[in-house]
Amino acid sequence: MSGLFVTFEGIDGAGKTTQVKRQAARLTRLGLDVLTVREPGGTELGEAIREILQNLGNMIDACAETCLYAAARAQLVAEVILPALQARRVLLADRFADSTIAYQGAGRGLPEEQIIELNALVTRRLRPDLTVLIDLPVEEALARARSKARAHDRMEMMDQAFFTRVRECYLRLAALEPARFVVFDGRKTPAELEAEIFQAVQEALERCIGTSGDKARL
Ligand SMILES: Nc1ncnc2c1ncn2[C@@H]1O[C@H](COP(=O)(O)OP(=O)(O)OP(=O)(O)O)[C@@H](O)[C@H]1O
Ligand SMILES: [Mg+2]
Repeated sequence: MSGLFVTFEGIDGAGKTTQVKRQAARLTRLGLDVLTVREPGGTELGEAIREILQNLGNMIDACAETCLYAAARAQLVAEVILPALQARRVLLADRFADSTIAYQGAGRGLPEEQIIELNALVTRRLRPDLTVLIDLPVEEALARARSKARAHDRMEMMDQAFFTRVRECYLRLAALEPARFVVFDGRKTPAELEAEIFQAVQEALERCIGTSGDKARL
């Protein structure tokens, strides 16, 4: 598979969406063909599932929730991600398979091996070339969520222990796969993080498709 597949992970409020937008803008300015997707969503089915998850919230059983995320991901992989990578595009995903391991596995307590198998099925064993993990202490993420104008539904519903489990799971996954994950300190400013993440993305570009942003501009 050609192209470059970068996923962004981290607990709620860590700064994923902020950095996906900044990286996409930066790569586009260098002349690269960039596509961003968010999970759950990115397809008609995925957006419908996103609404179900938002509307029914904590009424959904943990296994049912896992299957809804998996269905959205399967459709996104088939309809958007694989064609984009075949067309040699740079794909930035705001959450991907690791989110299900961290949230439904560590967070909600489902068996991790079964989630990994489900992920393998729905992703067709596609692995990101690079996973950007933005790590932030749970208290700081909660404070950010509280300072947002709109109520942050999930943060209201889940407790601190839940997010601590999710955060620790992400760090464990990163330690298990150091070649894929790069961990960033989410307490840094958005501009500092942008520069650091961009460096990791450039290295992944060199490694995977033999071009860096600088070369692409020439
Ligand atoms: N490095 C940063 N330092 C301080 N605040 C930040 C930083 N990055 C983002 N923020 C702010 O924190 C809030 C959450 O950021 P963002 O929406 O990017 O996080 P997220 O990881 O996408 O969250 P979610 O999982 O809820 O979608 C926003 O109000 C954003 O402006
Ligand atoms: Mg976000």
